[in-house]
Amino acid sequence: MSNMLTLALSKGRIFEETLPLLKAAGIEPIDDPETSRKLILDTNQPDVRLIIVRASDVPTYVEYGGADMGIAGKDVLLEHPKAELYEPVDLKIACCKLMTAGKIDEGQIKGRLKVATKFVESTRRFYASQGQQVDIIKLYGSMELAPLVGLADRIVDVVDTGNTLRANGLVPMEHIADISSRLVVNKASMKMKHARIQMFINRVRMAIEEQ
Ligand code: ATP
Ligand code: PRP
Repeated sequence: MSNMLTLALSKGRIFEETLPLLKAAGIEPIDDPETSRKLILDTNQPDVRLIIVRASDVPTYVEYGGADMGIAGKDVLLEHPKAELYEPVDLKIACCKLMTAGKIDEGQIKGRLKVATKFVESTRRFYASQGQQVDIIKLYGSMELAPLVGLADRIVDVVDTGNTLRANGLVPMEHIADISSRLVVNKASMKMKHARIQMFINRVRMAIEEQ
């Protein structure tokens, strides 16, 4: 295992909201991932690097040791219920809710409910907990479209302001889970690089408390 500490992040919302926490831990990237095409970003600390991956790939990189640590939304982690990962810190960033939603004027739904989502695992567990049998249709994005074109009766998606649902004539219905981003750590790294990772965790925790 190399001496390098590798942190997996996704571009966009998580990257932006993570930057102040990294700074508090003394880590500043040298390039901006929004303008750079590089997938490995050096930082001001020669033995710390950031890798840029898809949000939904963060648990995979961390579980299999492609990264020592990563930052992922709880929505993404809930899709990997068997992942062998530590989840030591709730970063309290990228906060939203996982919800079911449907058309305002959906009328009576005949037969088995059809639910479109990219969150198949959470959706399956939610309806199972309600004792309701549903057909789940896996999508990769633009879920709001599914009820509008008759592909599904309902969707399961993350909701923050509710603007995306409203703009598409949908309303939030049932609350499934509160979502925020979490620091996840590879189990072997936690043993082998314990002092450095623990120091990182402590600094990030302090930064969150000060916010
Ligand atoms: P991928 O690229 O793998 O499809 P994505 O497009 O969902 O991922 P982002 O939109 O950057 O990636 O979202 C990253 C995380 O931010 C999500 O996993 C979720 O936890 C959170 N999130 C998503 N949408 C919102 C929102 N509108 N407000 C707050 N947090 C959100
Ligand atoms: C996310 C998510 C919802 C929307 C909810 O999309 O997929 O569509 O935010 O937020 P709201 O309730 O505040 O409207 P995002 O804007 O990240 O675009 P994406 O589809 O590329 O992830």
